[in-house]
Amino acid sequence: MKVAVLTSGGDAPGMNAAIRAVVRAGIGQGWSMYGVRHGYAGLMAGNFRPLGARDVGEIMQLGGTVLGSARSPEFKTVDGRRKAIREMNKEGIDALVAIGGNGTQTGSHELAAMEFPVVGVASTVDNDLYGSDITIGVDTALNVALEAIDRLKVTASSHGRAFLVELMGRDCGYVALMAGIAGGAEAIVIPEVETDPEDVANEIRRAYKRGKPHALIVVAEGARYNAAGLAAFFKEHEQRLGFDLRVTVLGHVQRGGTPTYADRMLGTRLGAEAIHQIARGNTGVLVGIRQGELAATPLGEVVAGKKQLDTSLLELAGILAK
Ligand code: F6P
Repeated sequence: MKVAVLTSGGDAPGMNAAIRAVVRAGIGQGWSMYGVRHGYAGLMAGNFRPLGARDVGEIMQLGGTVLGSARSPEFKTVDGRRKAIREMNKEGIDALVAIGGNGTQTGSHELAAMEFPVVGVASTVDNDLYGSDITIGVDTALNVALEAIDRLKVTASSHGRAFLVELMGRDCGYVALMAGIAGGAEAIVIPEVETDPEDVANEIRRAYKRGKPHALIVVAEGARYNAAGLAAFFKEHEQRLGFDLRVTVLGHVQRGGTPTYADRMLGTRLGAEAIHQIARGNTGVLVGIRQGELAATPLGEVVAGKKQLDTSLLELAGILAK
């Protein structure tokens, strides 16, 4: 049996642990393992290379992905996917493991629909993928965000300033909500809940009145009032509001960094589980964690499902900010 592995979409810390686990668990089955360079773009180009156990040594502690990643518009077309399947057939590949988030698993689903055996591994720093309660990379991204928040609070306290931090997450507020709570933010703005900028300003004003030495707003990039929107509002009403705002957009910094224990372990468990599913002949699924257990969810369900965010945590954040 020949099995290939690729990483696609935005890289996520812990992807390398998953690659290592896929390769070594596959070798454990007696299979030949192949890496695909640069995601689906590399698959269409037939960019395969054999991977032995030593080739995936000393990668677990590295952020990013040693296979490289890409976003490939061509793979979204039927012709692009046919090209990929042709290349896999030419190389004699029997099954594919695709490590990535929503875009990647949409691609996996399409490949599975064209009868190619594929297993997805849940990996995205956004944690917006249906079929896994937690995805590879989120824990590290949250810890990077928290380090930035902690540092900003120090300087904010020294100057009695209000700070705003924008975190990534595409159209999902998970990272901003969790980092906002764990970072002790006075206000959290996420796409899932419509927020009036005037309410945010009032929150900050009240925080100062309660004697806080600083005020921190955490916003998700996908919120209607993200960093740009809120900064424009605060600038326009600066005189009336009585304070100005310093803005930090964390951006891709949040995606880099050494994977935490949690992400190495998650990558390892999900990578090995992908091989177990292939060995059982159960392809066309995403492997993830559901209610604390390894779970395989049909890719059709994954692409049709919408992960729900527990927005009641916003109320808790409000109470704790007092
Ligand atoms: O999906 C991961 C993510 O980092 C999102 O949070 C963000 O919106 C997007 O990727 C950025 O994409 P790119 O790396 O292509 O700029």
